Amino acid sequence: MRVSTGVTGFDDVVGGGIPAERLYVVCGPPGSGKTTFSAQFVAEGAATGDRCLFISMHESRDDLRADMDSYEFGFGEALDSGSVTFLDAFSSEGKRFFGMPGDRRDVNSVTNRISSFIESRDIDRVVIDSTMLMRYLLDDSDATIMRFLSALKRTSATTFLISEMTDPSAYADEHFLAHGVVFFHNYMEDDGMRRGVQVVKMRGVDADTDIQDVEFTDAGLVVGDGKPVTQ
Ligand SMILES: Nc1ncnc2c1ncn2[C@@H]1O[C@H](COP(=O)(O)OP(=O)(O)OP(=O)(O)O)[C@@H](O)[C@H]1O
Ligand SMILES: [Mg+2]
Repeated sequence: MRVSTGVTGFDDVVGGGIPAERLYVVCGPPGSGKTTFSAQFVAEGAATGDRCLFISMHESRDDLRADMDSYEFGFGEALDSGSVTFLDAFSSEGKRFFGMPGDRRDVNSVTNRISSFIESRDIDRVVIDSTMLMRYLLDDSDATIMRFLSALKRTSATTFLISEMTDPSAYADEHFLAHGVVFFHNYMEDDGMRRGVQVVKMRGVDADTDIQDVEFTDAGLVVGDGKPVTQ
């Protein structure tokens, strides 16, 4: 089964949406669109009746809502719909969920809590913003992080893991482990900043791996010319 990302033009790049119930790493430099892309994915899910979980260590629920309010894809409505659980890792609720910072956290219980939350609530779409959060919640050992990612892969949710990676060639373990890797680019050209998105890999899909143009519009991110690819 394929699911729509809610991002105009992106689904066409991967031949009609992304395979469901898989783990995708969304990476790129600061301000390249990772969080906006993921917010659109959640808004699309909420609008189509999916249950969603958004875990963030970067922004509070109110800040993210305010940022996404400048777009028309309905992130605020999604938050209000009751189908999105937003967990701010540094809120008191988040600290309760994950254990207090500074304490020695039982890394297995963090992994188990997230995966059993996803399964018990029948969550369809998950966003984790970002891998920095993973390293904060878990210990830094590769084995622990691998266990966490493997547990996420085994859930029946479609998961976006946002990663701060800036160098497209500096691949980390999560890029190999994930089913797909989507890289957002922003680079300076003579006439200003250019934005792009590239599907670096997507298992089982004959994706177009070229860099596609990305535009921030009132409707959110739009990939390519926004029109379905005609063959
Ligand atoms: N209408 C708009 N509303 C908000 N941001 C916009 C708008 N148009 C363009 N932008 C740009 O979007 C960028 C933010 O994108 P986003 O938060 O998705 O990036 P990110 O990759 O998650 O960044 P970070 O790594 O800093 O979290 C802003 O830096 C801003 O320049
Ligand atoms: Mg972000």
